[in-house]
Amino acid sequence: MNVLLDAPTIQTRIRQLAGEIERDYPDGEEIHFVCVLKGGFMFMADLVRAMSSRVSLDFIAVSSYAKSTKSSGEVRMLKDLDSGLQGRHIVIVEDIVDTGLTLTYLQEILRARAPKTLRTACLLSKPSRRQVDVTVEYIGFTIDDHFVVGYGLDFAEQYRNLPYIAVLDGES
Ligand code: IMP
Ligand code: MG
Repeated sequence: MNVLLDAPTIQTRIRQLAGEIERDYPDGEEIHFVCVLKGGFMFMADLVRAMSSRVSLDFIAVSSYAKSTKSSGEVRMLKDLDSGLQGRHIVIVEDIVDTGLTLTYLQEILRARAPKTLRTACLLSKPSRRQVDVTVEYIGFTIDDHFVVGYGLDFAEQYRNLPYIAVLDGES
């Protein structure tokens, strides 16, 4: 496997993002982070550890039908949030934005719950694969069109534990 982003590079960028997010919200107001399982778990853990603001956390899980050719309705809710979002500052935390379909769906359903603000943080973005124009306020790294694993991202549920991001074998 080829390492694309090593652990220190990821950690440095996450500290910058954490600072950026904290500066964007008024002092003393709680930020509620919604982690998209499973891929977002490691990014979320490091991101919130780098912050000193008032923070609360929740988790959501969705499945995407990767092989579907339809441009809508490919995403299904597997685990919903434990608490409501009304009047709160929400930041969705996701591993990667690829086609953008998953995040578009998530933003729509969470926006319908009337948060005070709704923003999105993604560790990685593959803009060359985008099918829908989705807004992501905080992006860690923009990468080329490789299938990557590690730091939460999997191939067949493997490699999520790697502390770095690598391009899977068989790709250049
Ligand atoms: P989207 O709906 O196409 O943006 O899909 C995003 C989801 O696809 C992510 O949450 C990942 O679970 C998965 N995904 C996309 N690209 C990769 C990759 O390179 N490695 C691992 N998972 C990926
Ligand atoms: Mg995912």
